[in-house]
Amino acid sequence: MKAWDQMEAAERRARERRMAEHGETLDQLAAEGIDLDPDGTIAGAGTGAGPSTHRHGDLEHVSDHTHPHAHSEPGERPVTGIVGAGPVGLALGVALSRAGWPVGAVASRDPARRARFREHVPNVRPFAEANALVDDVELVILAVPDDALAPLAESLRLYAGQAIVHTSGLLGAEVLAPARAAGTQAGAFHPLVAFADLELALAALRGATIAIEGDDDLVAHLADMAEAIGGSPVRLAPGSKAAYHAAAVLSAGGVVALLDTIREVAANLGLDEAGAMRIYLPLVEQTIANARALGIDASLTGPATRGDAGTAAAHLRALGEGAPDALPVYRALLARDIAVATRRGALSPEATERLRTALAGHP
Ligand SMILES: NC(=O)c1ccc[n+]([C@@H]2O[C@H](COP(=O)([O-])OP(=O)(O)OC[C@H]3O[C@@H](n4cnc5c(N)ncnc54)[C@H](OP(=O)(O)O)[C@@H]3O)[C@@H](O)[C@H]2O)c1
Repeated sequence: MKAWDQMEAAERRARERRMAEHGETLDQLAAEGIDLDPDGTIAGAGTGAGPSTHRHGDLEHVSDHTHPHAHSEPGERPVTGIVGAGPVGLALGVALSRAGWPVGAVASRDPARRARFREHVPNVRPFAEANALVDDVELVILAVPDDALAPLAESLRLYAGQAIVHTSGLLGAEVLAPARAAGTQAGAFHPLVAFADLELALAALRGATIAIEGDDDLVAHLADMAEAIGGSPVRLAPGSKAAYHAAAVLSAGGVVALLDTIREVAANLGLDEAGAMRIYLPLVEQTIANARALGIDASLTGPATRGDAGTAAAHLRALGEGAPDALPVYRALLARDIAVATRRGALSPEATERLRTALAGHP
């Protein structure tokens, strides 16, 4: 699995645990030729170039504490603060709190969301401003829209010994650079979960892939955090995050777009959404089960596997009359099915050509 680096993350974590047990320092690792800061983004933050380092709990601290932010003791979990009380922020707050990881503060500009967060997460201090939360915590989680991350990071200033992560599936940890100072760490923590409903999302976190990144010391901590909430941590290869996230969006929003298209087409039969889902969702689920059991190619059924160009043409005519917005979706998906059927060896070159002609030949 080229994009995943799970084994490497596990090995690093084991190594860092050994380091903690044996009192080794990051400088010793550097002396062994292990580069903890390959792109230089954390220069001075724990490799001996800046202030000397020591540990509280699982996060690394510099010795010169000039700011009274929250500190955990060795072996304790760090106090976490969550910025953004939307679907992701709330679910992570609840999951961490239920797993016994202290959630000390939440920042939300919306009083109703702050109140809801407090209902679900006991003993949390609510703030309207993200900056006000920083004093109360060691680890700051930014659970805000991707586009809001850069301006938010610009407005925050961490203190030595603190760490900051975001939950974006697309962006790297570098977007958080403006919030950093010497002795701070930054990373990303992206659960591969569709946060549409709180309880469903909490259940889905169990066994979910959680992509983590950041400098090695923080990554070890984030991996523990992911496992604490039932997730399975993985580390992505550099440069692969946009593709990782595009596949995630196809898996979630892409499926919703398909269901919405099915709903539109089924309206031609007089079915409402509930009726359409009652009839067609079992077929969707069966297809997913087939793909899981047999593989993608073998799970394909329908006109593309039979070379039924006449059927495809009839579908296009019907959609053109009754569900024109569904036409481009049908065309794109059938073109993909033809490619799968051809790859599978189900179609002769002539049948493939007939299907492609039918696909191109209707408005
Ligand atoms: N939704 C998912 O299924 C999912 C899954 C995995 C990862 N993610 C990632 O998790 C992050 C949050 O996702 P979400 O769906 O929870 O987002 P969201 O509902 O769009 O926003 C979350 C919260 O961010 C705050 N916010 C919005 N605009 C802001 C701004 N300009 N400055 C500061 N705060 C702002 C708001 O909090 P207040 O108004 O309360 O301050 C809002 O409730 C994103 O990076 C997303 O890519 C999402």
